[in-house]
Amino acid sequence: MTAATNISTTSCFVDNYHSLFVCKTCASVWEDGRRLGESGGQKLLQQLQHLAQDWDLRNKFLIKEVECMSACNRSCVVAFAAKGKLTYLFGDLAIDGSASAVLECASQYYANPDGLLPWSERPELLKKGILAKIPSITVEKVNTTEI
Ligand code: FES
Repeated sequence: MTAATNISTTSCFVDNYHSLFVCKTCASVWEDGRRLGESGGQKLLQQLQHLAQDWDLRNKFLIKEVECMSACNRSCVVAFAAKGKLTYLFGDLAIDGSASAVLECASQYYANPDGLLPWSERPELLKKGILAKIPSITVEKVNTTEI
């Protein structure tokens, strides 16, 4: 019985899994093929992690660093993704001063059942710089009695 309860709890978490991807390579300075110091993306990631300590969704929204999301000329870049929701990719985020707006937008994304982030409702800093709005992957239920 305990095992079943644990499985159920895990399943609920996976179904409600939300991710904030942050590119840690954005706004890097390179010399001879090596990165000099901390990248802008790493700084933004640290600011997000710091702010998220007091965020009411800190246990529901995972902040994940990624190497690159192929929008390198639009740094800094973040993305929101969750099962059954739109996926959004945002760029042109300033290294300093964007973290609060990103978490505010992430909260809006979490609250909307399909993840829709209307322009008029997004934080000012995320009204521009949207790079992609990708439809969710949906699995249609197959009625086996019709096959
Ligand atoms: S370096 Fe950040 S998206 Fe490629």
